[in-house]
Amino acid sequence: MGIRYLEEERIFKLDTPNTTYLLGVVAKEGFLGHLYYGKKLEDVTGAGYLSRVEEPPFVPEKNDRDRSSFFDAFPFEYSSHGVGDFRESSLKIRTMAGHVASSLVYVSHEIQKGKGKLAGLPATFGNEAEVTTLTVTCTDPSIGVNVELSYSAFEKVDVIARSVRVINASKEPVWLEKVMSLCLDLEGKEYDILTLHGSWARERHEERKPLGHGKYAVSSRRGESSHQEHPFLALLSKNADQTMGEVYGFHFAYSGNFIGQAERDQFGQVRVVMGIHPEDFSWKLEPGESFQAPEVELTYSSLGLGGMTRTLHDLYRRHMIRSPWLHKKRPILINNWEATYFDFTADKILDIAKESAKLGIEMLVLDDGWFGNRFDDNRSLGDWWVNEEKLRGGLGRLVSEINALGMKFGLWFEPEMISPESRLYEEHPDWAIQIPGRRPCRARNQFVLDVGRREVRDYVLEKMFAVLHGANVEYVKWDMNRPLTDLGSAALPADRQGELCHRYVLGMYEMQERLLAEFPNLLLENCSGGGGRFDPGMLYYSPQIWCSDDTDAVERLMIQEGTSLLYPLSCMGAHVSVCPNHTVGRTTPFATRGMVALAGTFGYELDVTKLSDEDKAAVPRQIRAYHAFNDLVREGKYYRIASYLENRDHDCFQVMEDGGKKGLIFFTQVLATPSSRSRRLPLQGLKKGSRYRIFQVNLNKEELLTDTGRVYSGDVLMNAGLTLERPWGDFQGRLLYLEEEK
Ligand code: GLA
Repeated sequence: MGIRYLEEERIFKLDTPNTTYLLGVVAKEGFLGHLYYGKKLEDVTGAGYLSRVEEPPFVPEKNDRDRSSFFDAFPFEYSSHGVGDFRESSLKIRTMAGHVASSLVYVSHEIQKGKGKLAGLPATFGNEAEVTTLTVTCTDPSIGVNVELSYSAFEKVDVIARSVRVINASKEPVWLEKVMSLCLDLEGKEYDILTLHGSWARERHEERKPLGHGKYAVSSRRGESSHQEHPFLALLSKNADQTMGEVYGFHFAYSGNFIGQAERDQFGQVRVVMGIHPEDFSWKLEPGESFQAPEVELTYSSLGLGGMTRTLHDLYRRHMIRSPWLHKKRPILINNWEATYFDFTADKILDIAKESAKLGIEMLVLDDGWFGNRFDDNRSLGDWWVNEEKLRGGLGRLVSEINALGMKFGLWFEPEMISPESRLYEEHPDWAIQIPGRRPCRARNQFVLDVGRREVRDYVLEKMFAVLHGANVEYVKWDMNRPLTDLGSAALPADRQGELCHRYVLGMYEMQERLLAEFPNLLLENCSGGGGRFDPGMLYYSPQIWCSDDTDAVERLMIQEGTSLLYPLSCMGAHVSVCPNHTVGRTTPFATRGMVALAGTFGYELDVTKLSDEDKAAVPRQIRAYHAFNDLVREGKYYRIASYLENRDHDCFQVMEDGGKKGLIFFTQVLATPSSRSRRLPLQGLKKGSRYRIFQVNLNKEELLTDTGRVYSGDVLMNAGLTLERPWGDFQGRLLYLEEEK
């Protein structure tokens, strides 16, 4: 496996366990062409023909009078700008003279075991046995700019990680106006495109549609990866479903403005580009300086969407998440946000903690409102010192009392923000992102701090560290509750204002890096008004991210389906809250809410002192199920069986231990149906020749498991399916456990 250069044919062959990627140096000029990406190939002798240079339109050396006919059709590894390829360009560089054309040719390459870090950016990692990296250096001789295209092929995971570095080797400054991290020219098959869309409280719903001619893009210009569109797209063969068909997945490991676009051209070929959104972006490169573009994770599955899902889960678990918490059971937390909002005192928090401790909850997380003058969301962001009026005796005292109950303590921050009504804003109004002379747009009555500036980061971290050193805080929820607008930085000169958004993201990454360096065992959970910054980049810093402010069990089924399409369940922050639900007003059974949260990190977000006796009695039973099954949920293989978004009736997925010996089936009948017939659901991931015993998991009974007495072969369960009785009533969850018979 790994990466080989076939010198005679000038072809690079990149292999992962089940896929091959081919690129080649073509023609005398040395264009870098894309030859193939798909199912694994062994012998690729003579595969250079795939570039079609021997077919019309011929390469420029044979047909210079029609250079554009070549440029506009050739499958480029990294497309040019303004020289005859009218499809999407990958790179736009403005020179001192004001020109913006660029076109790259091959110079040299290097193949190395392992994978280097991307300066200042999150990226996958792996040691010399796990990954091989090819770096191809190209140049545009007319402007003296070099571009390094980097490809890392993983040994055990079907992923190729791509990134790009631009180096100004000329004697004059240049301005980068667009640097895509990926360009991939695919053959002209018919594809569907799958993307994730949403809004606040409705994140990452799947959407699939045919890819027609023209361009289809997902993007964000909100300064974060966003609730609305996700830095992901997949191209699917028409027949692709969960278990079969071809799927190309593209996932951007970046937490700011992005674009992901698929374009079907005049010849039916498809070009995918992905990278930082070129709008609101420019970057000045002085001679000798370089720019590192973030990484795209590229995956191909011939086993349908399920194959892509399990590949990405493996990738993030093995090669992206660094936290020491990755493989650990996370403490079951109770968060006071939906319980109290801003209205709490130390006594109230202690009451919640005492009751929680009795039920087996392991950590209390104090959310927004503990600092400055924060009695509502109109003020005090930036004033990171304890509000003694609410927390008499200070944080240290509260935390020791909570620790004395045997519970851990966690705390909420929103480090990137500043309220116009705050001490910080009085002292440093120029630290807020805004344009002089223009009334800035408020969102939740707050502004965004210019964390691209070193002094701003230093200040905020100093205040945070003081709080965290002053009490035994073992968990931090890092929130970010508004998008970026009014893009002006008081610290940047006119020709660098376009750097603000990317500098912001780099600054935020650096802050999280420094926080973790100071507190290496901290359990960090990212959040952005729920799941507005849930992306692979953030996973590099936190092993879990708050999925959504919507804790309604039904809405969560759809949010968690879309999220788990790409992310391991161990990343998905999920809590049980009260009904009627605070966001949608729906009432669902407590057990269903428990089951849905058990498919994520699991915790509670309610006032446990006000729970009914019945619900309170159920809490320790849900907790017992968490302890029994979290290893499986956290580390298992994920299989999507049925989608409520698609069928508007029920939801079902499975988590299997690696090796297929045991697993869980999560089933929810969302709406009651009058049919008395049972439902038959074909399972996945079992061993064909083994027999499995099926148990009911009780979230509200004395014993955890009830043996149903049903034992069937994997073969039957996977092909004919498991029959499940239709439950009585709406929103009925059912959790089953199955185990191979010895
Ligand atoms: C965001 C978060 C919530 C909560 C509030 C506090 O909306 O997503 O979980 O922390 O902020 O203001």
